[in-house]
This record gives sequence, structure tokens and C-alpha cells, in this order.
Amino acid sequence: MEREITIAIVGGTGNLGTALALRLAAPGVRVIIGSRDPEKAKTVVESLKPKVTQGRLEGRGNREAVKEAEFVVIAVPYEGHAKIIADLKGQLSGKIIIDAVVPLQKGKPFVPPAGSALLEAQQILGDEAPVVGALHNISALDLQDASAPLGDVLVCGDSEPAKQSVMGIIQRIGARAFDAGPAANAYVVEGLTGVLISLNRKYKSKHASVKITGIGQ
Ligand SMILES: NC(=O)c1ccc[n+]([C@@H]2O[C@H](COP(=O)([O-])OP(=O)(O)OC[C@H]3O[C@@H](n4cnc5c(N)ncnc54)[C@H](OP(=O)(O)O)[C@@H]3O)[C@@H](O)[C@H]2O)c1
Repeated sequence: MEREITIAIVGGTGNLGTALALRLAAPGVRVIIGSRDPEKAKTVVESLKPKVTQGRLEGRGNREAVKEAEFVVIAVPYEGHAKIIADLKGQLSGKIIIDAVVPLQKGKPFVPPAGSALLEAQQILGDEAPVVGALHNISALDLQDASAPLGDVLVCGDSEPAKQSVMGIIQRIGARAFDAGPAANAYVVEGLTGVLISLNRKYKSKHASVKITGIGQ
């Protein structure tokens, strides 16, 4: 039997976190939804349970949620990003951080002083844990519908083994994962979400995404 993997989602009570939890639900996967308020996490888990027939789903405070996880997804608005990473620092050793955060101000992308959300997280954590950027360009709307096709996921980061592991997680949710290069590329992938938001506005959609062509996969 395959070993169970545990994935914590910090800010897992929100749009991306709840949708991702539903997609991750599978035999051998334990998803822990984290929140600033443990009771809120438990309530959200109860609301999701009718839709989850496989795997294990639990709700906890963010710091508790990450304790037993091998993968920690950061799914909070950019405003809370640096603080939540700093709050979790010291708890993340040996884990892989999947940062999905897009720096947005009033719906518009911007490049934060560290260069990207990924680089900001890595700067705060230092050598404690590798940070891998992923899932920025996937819509929660598609994620929450198990039958909806997903866009491609561009995965970047400076740790090759961590990136490979994250690509494995992405494939589990039914998306194609592409190694999009080093952490220095993250600002482009994060900013691309700003373009997708504009496309959604212009073309009256809610789930524009990206597709990579020209690569045999
Ligand atoms: N929605 C999407 O389709 C999508 C797709 C790709 C990437 N993203 C990115 O993923 C992140 C989450 O997006 P979302 O739409 O899920 O956001 P959201 O629903 O607005 O927020 C997610 C959760 O973050 C927590 N939170 C809110 N403000 C916070 C703060 N200041 N500090 C710490 N935690 C805070 C809340 O949980 P508690 O109150 O329970 O703590 C909230 O439920 C964003 O950075 C977004 O750019 C979103």
C-alpha cells in the first residue's frame, strides 16, 4: 500500500483552499485545512464533507495544521502573506512549501519588494524549507468541479527535488505540471494571473487559464 501523504492548506477556508481540498481528496491523501480560527476550519470541513468520499479531511488552526504535513500550501491573500509565513517559521523544517499567492492590489498585479511572493516567502524562511510556486493560474471555479478540465500549472523554484515533488501533487489533481524554471521566474507566473483577470473581465468569463503548447507531454 502507498504511504499516506499529508497536505496542509494555510488559508484553506477560502476559495482556492476549499476547491483544492476537494480535488486532492483521494485514497492515501490527508488534507488539513488551516485557518486563523480553528473553529472556522472545522466548520468549513463539515460543509465540505458531503462532497468528499475518499481520503481524510480535517480542520485546524494554521500552526497546528502544518505540524504533521509534508506539503504546506499557502493560500492566503497577499496582504497576509509575509505575516503568515513569519508566524509559521520554525514549524516548517523538512516540509515543502507550495506558494500559490498572487501579489494583487485592487485586482491589479504588482511585483513586491522581494521580487515575488515566492522570493518573499523564501527570504523569510531562509534554509528552513524550500518554497515552490504553483497553482497561480488555475481558477478555484474549475478546481472545485471535479469534471472541469484544468489549465496547465507552471511550477517554479530553486530546489529541483521539491519542484519534482510538487509536480507530482499537481498531477494528482488532474492538471499538467510544467517545470517553469527557477524562483527568479516566479514574478512572471504570479503576474500572469493579473492578465487572466483582465481576460476574464474583457471576455466575461470567470476561469481563464493557460495552456502550454509545443512541448511533448
Ligand atoms: N481564488 C482563485 O481562483 C485563486 C487561484 C490561484 C491563486 N489564488 C491565490 O491564492 C490565494 C488565496 O486566494 P483565495 O481566493 O482563496 O482567497 P480568499 O478566499 O480571499 O482567502 C483565503 C483565506 O485566507 C485567509 N485570510 C484572509 N485574509 C488573511 C490575512 N490577512 N492573513 C492571513 N490569512 C488571511 C482566510 O482564512 P481564515 O479567515 O480562515 O484564516 C481566507 O479564507 C491568493 O493569494 C490568490 O491570489 C487564488
